[in-house]
Amino acid sequence: MIHKINEASDYIKSKLDIEPDVGLILGSGLGVLAEEITNRTVIKYEDIPNFPVSTVEGHAGQFVVGNLQDKKVMAMQGRFHFYEGYDMEEIVLPVRVMYKLGIENLLVTNAAGGINRNFDPGNFMIIQDHLNLMGDNPLKGENIEEFGPRFPDMSEVYNEELRELAEKIAVENKIKIVKGNYVALSGPSYETPAEIRHLRNSGADAVGMSTVPETITANHMGMNILGISCITNMAAGVLPQPLDHKEVVEIAEKVKPEFSTLIKGILKEM
Ligand code: HPA
Repeated sequence: MIHKINEASDYIKSKLDIEPDVGLILGSGLGVLAEEITNRTVIKYEDIPNFPVSTVEGHAGQFVVGNLQDKKVMAMQGRFHFYEGYDMEEIVLPVRVMYKLGIENLLVTNAAGGINRNFDPGNFMIIQDHLNLMGDNPLKGENIEEFGPRFPDMSEVYNEELRELAEKIAVENKIKIVKGNYVALSGPSYETPAEIRHLRNSGADAVGMSTVPETITANHMGMNILGISCITNMAAGVLPQPLDHKEVVEIAEKVKPEFSTLIKGILKEM
């Protein structure tokens, strides 16, 4: 595994003339932010040794590296999902590679369904903590000591200072922000209303099919992590209508300007 990681990061390093300091993972429909990166180098996943290729609609499948605000960022336009059939190792390879390239700060975004009845579609949720209900763990298998310990502490995966900063930027820009726990399931089927009731009773506020593998891995390596969910729909059974992936994409599209303001504001001050 370490050999695969090194090969991928050596290839990327050979294409870059800057050293990025913030990693940005852009979720479903939120990849547009990468278009605002200047002095950009685009590296397609398909050209990187050992990289899987993203298959989901609305995901570009490339790194965009360059300047956003005054930060040097490495953005993933498209990520790998467990439901696509990838192994956990493949899903978290980009985060391992980011760390190898010297990145210590990770900003992760996703589209999620609102479980908390006080949420509305279009809200942004600062991830306070997560529940890993994917039925797998990216750290399974041999531990690579240079990345972190066998049994990493998970008491504060999502950095408190960064969470406070995100809230401050949202308030300053009059962007509706909520806070809560994100639960990750494997997907690809959406949840049943019974599952959503169960998850609500377990303390989950929003549900999705990503993010947790990457943040467990980044936490293993001691990175500073901020997670932001875009609530694209209310979870199954919260409202009378059925769920539709189109709705998820539409809301993500609609909140684009606010999302961009929020992330850029955070980057500026982090
Ligand atoms: N459930 C799971 N994943 C999601 C949802 C949802 O309701 N919305 C966006 N991603």
